[in-house]
Amino acid sequence: MRTLDITVLGGTGFVGSALVARLAAAGHRLRLPSRNPYAARHLAVLPNVERIRADIHDPETLRRVVADSDVVINLVGILNEKGRSGRGFELAHAELTRKTIVACIETGVSRYLHMSALGASESGPSHYLRSKGVAERHVRAAPASLDWTIFRPSVIFGRGDSLLNRFAGLLRLSGGVMPLARAGAKFSPVWIDDVVSSFEAALLGGATSRQSYDLCGPEVITLADLVRYTGSLAGTGARIVSLPDAVGRLQALVMDFVPGKPFSTDNFLSLTVDNICQENGFARLGITPTPLRAIAPTYIGPSR
Ligand SMILES: NC(=O)c1ccc[n+]([C@@H]2O[C@H](COP(=O)([O-])OP(=O)(O)OC[C@H]3O[C@@H](n4cnc5c(N)ncnc54)[C@H](OP(=O)(O)O)[C@@H]3O)[C@@H](O)[C@H]2O)c1
Repeated sequence: MRTLDITVLGGTGFVGSALVARLAAAGHRLRLPSRNPYAARHLAVLPNVERIRADIHDPETLRRVVADSDVVINLVGILNEKGRSGRGFELAHAELTRKTIVACIETGVSRYLHMSALGASESGPSHYLRSKGVAERHVRAAPASLDWTIFRPSVIFGRGDSLLNRFAGLLRLSGGVMPLARAGAKFSPVWIDDVVSSFEAALLGGATSRQSYDLCGPEVITLADLVRYTGSLAGTGARIVSLPDAVGRLQALVMDFVPGKPFSTDNFLSLTVDNICQENGFARLGITPTPLRAIAPTYIGPSR
């Protein structure tokens, strides 16, 4: 494949770091705007990666950032907002996506890869899922000059994730006891490298042009079993206290006001729908998804 100029919005986070490392290793040139590029020092060692400080919510700045790119990838996402109104989700997901599409069209960018989330829907139960649904509508409504692909993964695991690592940290702190809201909620955890492979396969469009892919791992697991499995790897075990919904909602409401929001009412509402695939998009991409149990022991353990 020829060398591409790729701009990655949200490229400094968990998914971005893995994707940028893969694309840089393949020889592509990457531009990463960030609110705080110096926080992403781990990316500085990669060849052909330019980190720039930029407020990508400003349309003029965004135009400058995406100009001359062969591909723009949008990974920006938040799990929680300041406050509870939903405005933070709208700005980060829906509004920024709309502005990015406008910036791509105005500067002649022709290829756009969009990170959404499994369950994203304008009629979803949470601000997170609804704002992701609105963002998808903006992508699908893009003029023909902008060729797009949307990815909708279930929860993503891998080194540096905030899924198993967070549960392992909480279990270590609590001596293995975990009060859990929506303990029966189902997921299909998907490996970060498989998600990265999907983006890489879609760089040039082709069969992935104007397509949307739900991405799931090979197994379905409940939240409670995911925590139990993490506890077994971390050496803490896990005694799950499954909270009835009324109590889980109350727990979430209290957490809404804890700095950093480790859990929130919006997270609780997202958990009211299962996060599993009807049709796994990996099949259409020719990728065999990797089981959780093949990878998790490589980065979660008693001493890690
Ligand atoms: N992780 C998962 O399990 C999972 C599952 C399904 C979908 N996704 C989606 O995948 C994407 C990446 O997730 P991740 O886990 O890599 O998240 P992450 O580690 O929290 O990274 C988020 C990225 O978004 C940027 N960002 C956050 N808020 C922003 C804002 N208000 N304005 C501009 N930039 C902002 C951050 O950039 P700076 O701080 O450098 O500015 C950072 O690079 C998100 O869209 C997420 O919804 C993730």
